[in-house]
Amino acid sequence: MQDYKNILAEILIDEETLQSRIKELGVEISTDYPDGNLLLVCILRGGVPFLVDLSRNISAPHMMDFMAVASYGVGKRESTGAVRVTMDLQVDIHDKDVLLVEDIVDSGHTIASVLELLQVRQPRSLKVCALLDKAERREAVVPIHYRGFEIPNKFVFGYGLDLDEYYRNLPFVGVVDLTKYKPIS
Ligand code: IMP
Ligand code: MG
Repeated sequence: MQDYKNILAEILIDEETLQSRIKELGVEISTDYPDGNLLLVCILRGGVPFLVDLSRNISAPHMMDFMAVASYGVGKRESTGAVRVTMDLQVDIHDKDVLLVEDIVDSGHTIASVLELLQVRQPRSLKVCALLDKAERREAVVPIHYRGFEIPNKFVFGYGLDLDEYYRNLPFVGVVDLTKYKPIS
């Protein structure tokens, strides 16, 4: 796989800006969920770096759990509708204050489907925290209760977001220069 520097068009959100916004979100969430019933639900795999940093900035006692979903059909870089659960939560969310932690809301289909399937389990509350919001691309109406940044309609990578499963480790969010990217076959 290519070095990220060869396909980086620009750094959209640098490490310092990311971390200071995540700190603010952590403070806000700590205030809103003081009673220790909070369960952070991370959607694998893109949400992992954000979950880790966010959780460290939430001073209120909370739990965390993980789930993985896959969208049915279509290309790798977009989703069109229903998702299926490929790895379910371990924790029973009944009566918990569930906060979904996502890297990015793009069309909104992923979050819309996950919200629908978790609501059935009767959590006490169910909200969404998304680091990035590509609002221009929205097709499904989804609430974003905590939003890190609204970003333009560009394909981004780093800080959880991948390009063919690589580059999730980068500490910043960058724009991909797709003309320079050579996908591995
Ligand atoms: P949605 O269902 O269209 O909202 O898409 C959500 C998923 O698409 C995200 O969780 C990401 O995994 C992926 N995705 C959307 N936009 C980008 C991007 O710019 N870079 C990397 N992954 C993306
Ligand atoms: Mg994702």
